[in-house]
Amino acid sequence: MDFFVGITGASGVRLGVRLVEELSCWGTVHLSFTSRARSIAEGEGVDLAFPDQVKVWSPEALDAPVSSGSFRLDGTVIVPCSMGTLGRVAGGVSSNLIERAADVALKEGWPLILVPRETPLNLVHLENMVRLARAGAVIMPPVLTYYHGPRCIEDMEAFILGKILDRLGVTHTLFGRWGDEP
Ligand SMILES: Cc1cc2nc3c(=O)[nH]c(=O)nc-3n(C[C@H](O)[C@H](O)[C@H](O)COP(=O)(O)O)c2cc1C
Repeated sequence: MDFFVGITGASGVRLGVRLVEELSCWGTVHLSFTSRARSIAEGEGVDLAFPDQVKVWSPEALDAPVSSGSFRLDGTVIVPCSMGTLGRVAGGVSSNLIERAADVALKEGWPLILVPRETPLNLVHLENMVRLARAGAVIMPPVLTYYHGPRCIEDMEAFILGKILDRLGVTHTLFGRWGDEP
């Protein structure tokens, strides 16, 4: 399987890094992160170093394979997705590789999952999300979770990662499902 992961300049960069780790077990991950994501990662104590099998692309690399719909992917995820990137994707503005990859996912029809991290949401944020949902994107904010009995932030991260993997059709045991034996 082939996936694209974009990490943008919102808090919660760890979610993107953890997703890359999970997806690397299933296939090739193409990854790009913005300069703002890099500085937020530093502030949040997250290391943006990846093993060789992860193909890391500069956000400027608009000639990368994932820029073209002829390069097939099984899913595209932007996590975390800043409101800036979300707005540009909603507006069809492909000013970097991450925005272009999202645009390609929408036109080609494979899963596009956006994990926007902002609160509260203003009307512009909400309208951009509606526009993207209408175009076929999955909007998956990393909300607080309770029913699976989280004991730490890593448990909550595992839950949102599992929800992303569910939408990508990837098997996982990151959280117990409602109705499962504890
Ligand atoms: C420390 C820090 C944390 C930020 N957190 C968020 C956030 O959680 N959500 C968001 O939408 N923007 C956040 N921003 C603002 C974005 O980084 C800013 O809009 C930036 O232009 C996004 O660029 P990018 O989408 O190209 O990465 C944050 C900025 C800083 C400096």
